[in-house]
Amino acid sequence: MSPAPTLTDAREGAPVVILRAHRPDDAQGSYEQCQDPLSQEWTTVPLPYTREMAHGFVTEMMPGGWSDDSEWGFALDVDGRYAGTVSLRNEGDGRAEIAYGSHPWVRGTGAVERALRLLLDWGFAERDLRTVVWWANTGNWASRKVAWRLGFTMEGTVRQYLPHRGELRDAWVATLLAGDPREPRTAWDGPS
Ligand SMILES: CC(C)(COP(=O)(O)OP(=O)(O)OC[C@H]1O[C@@H](n2cnc3c(N)ncnc32)[C@H](O)[C@@H]1OP(=O)(O)O)[C@@H](O)C(=O)NCCC(=O)NCCS
Repeated sequence: MSPAPTLTDAREGAPVVILRAHRPDDAQGSYEQCQDPLSQEWTTVPLPYTREMAHGFVTEMMPGGWSDDSEWGFALDVDGRYAGTVSLRNEGDGRAEIAYGSHPWVRGTGAVERALRLLLDWGFAERDLRTVVWWANTGNWASRKVAWRLGFTMEGTVRQYLPHRGELRDAWVATLLAGDPREPRTAWDGPS
């Protein structure tokens, strides 16, 4: 068991992006994020999502992942404000699944991409990861574009695979290996 470290990159003139352990006062931002239609459409956040759930997420669920080494989750903090959660879910044997979701206020700023670069650098260096996998419901172009920017290679579509509120949705899957360049591997093939 180890607590979440604090990670940051220094970029002059840019917002301060920090990955850190979740705190009780992140509950309000987490609650707001989970009311957002895109978060509800593309993640399996419970519906309705209550303030109690948000409190449990930041005080129990996320710290619990560090306690049992099942998920290394970080709060994304931008200029001192809660802006989302990013994580690596430990799949064992040097493998992890990347997961991310941002509060609407920070979208379109590039902060999520910076946070995910910090997360991946940390996971490959400090958890000896060899392969990180990304899954998304088909059609989630915002998530796919971020993964593409980070250097993930699209492996294809898996039919009826991701559980989503009682059904199985078709899924896109992509991978990033420890030695892969962290830049797009192909021309962008989605909508612009
Ligand atoms: C995925 C997410 C974290 C990305 O954050 P972000 O990078 O700040 O988001 P943006 O809105 O800037 O979208 C990223 C890019 O996708 C593009 N995009 C967004 N929606 C799109 C759509 N429906 N079709 C095509 N492109 C789209 C944006 O234009 C942007 O491109 P650009 O950077 O070239 O301008 C954020 O959208 C989110 O929290 N979504 C809900 C939760 C989620 O889907 N999590 C991932 C589950 S796999």
